[in-house]
Amino acid sequence: MSARPILLVAGGAGFIGANFVRHVRANRPDWQVRVLDALTYAGDRRRLDGAGCELIVGDIAHRPTAAAALQGASWLVNVAAETHVDRSLLDVEPFLHANVLGVQRLFEAARLAGVAKAVHVSTDEVYGETRGGAFRETDALAPRNPYAASKAAGDLMLLAAWQTHQFPLCITRGVNTIGPWQHPEKAVPLFTINAIRGQPLPLYGRGAQQRDRLHVDDHASAILTVLERGEPGEVYNVAADNHCDNLTVAQRICARVGAPPSLIHFVTDRTGHDWNYALDAAKLRALGWERRYDFGAALDAAVDWYLASPDWWEPILEGEFQAYYDRQYGERLAGAEAFRA
Ligand code: DAU
Repeated sequence: MSARPILLVAGGAGFIGANFVRHVRANRPDWQVRVLDALTYAGDRRRLDGAGCELIVGDIAHRPTAAAALQGASWLVNVAAETHVDRSLLDVEPFLHANVLGVQRLFEAARLAGVAKAVHVSTDEVYGETRGGAFRETDALAPRNPYAASKAAGDLMLLAAWQTHQFPLCITRGVNTIGPWQHPEKAVPLFTINAIRGQPLPLYGRGAQQRDRLHVDDHASAILTVLERGEPGEVYNVAADNHCDNLTVAQRICARVGAPPSLIHFVTDRTGHDWNYALDAAKLRALGWERRYDFGAALDAAVDWYLASPDWWEPILEGEFQAYYDRQYGERLAGAEAFRA
């Protein structure tokens, strides 16, 4: 009997990572899935409960750990990253460590280990904001916040690795992703949890900025499509065409939870807040991928998961998150104006 092929998912205890692991386990039951995750504040082994994978706790930037995790692996998917824009405005160094140095070392270890194919999960933010039109994969990178700049740097290191070593890798650039097990620091979980608890929803500016919201299971199927069918050296945009402004999102969350919209509070805007991101995903669709969730279905599914899962998110609200929340929102909420319908 031949051994089952091994897929290493770096960052597999994170939000997109764990949902991707579950997607692979459900759709490729013959694959063995191994996770490497540093379990930072954003990682949580509970996301992998019952997922049927091995978990190695370690940092992608630690060469011996990365090499050991890659032993025998046929494929690598990297979802390990520092991801929260607001935190990158407070301290960018963890972003440089994970998103640049970590990415470089992990993919170098994968090349030396003879991995047959690797996918790196990046972001629409590397193109910068748009106020009209959608970015294609060939467009120039113009990141506008420290998080986005660190992701762009990681992308460029990998495209250089492809050019110089022909290491067979692809990059995916996805839009704003929502769904189960997303950390409460992000807008949709934060608004939902605060609505459930009767706390103010801190909406930056007037809530006019837009995002294209992709359900995480659609994001997972896109990554798997690129792993199996993507052309080495190529970049693939992942978009849902589900654009919606933040005020509408907050209102819809309140309605779904059954909370009054007056809980929505306009607070001081994010510095350098990108207006919108929009991607043309025709190249990915040409591989046979399509999204299953439209905007309403994606948002409702995410909100319903939080309504049903306080056991998961309640413990996260204490400790590190409480300190972050106070620092991020304390002053902002003190002078905030409530939304009037
Ligand atoms: O677009 C892809 C990106 O989506 C990913 O690369 C990032 O890792 C991910 O964090 C996300 O970035 P955003 O900055 O778009 O997501 P966030 O959930 O932080 O914010 C979504 C929108 O909601 C954004 O316009 C800012 C706004 N917002 C966010 C927070 C946390 C608020 O109005 N209030 C808030 O408290």
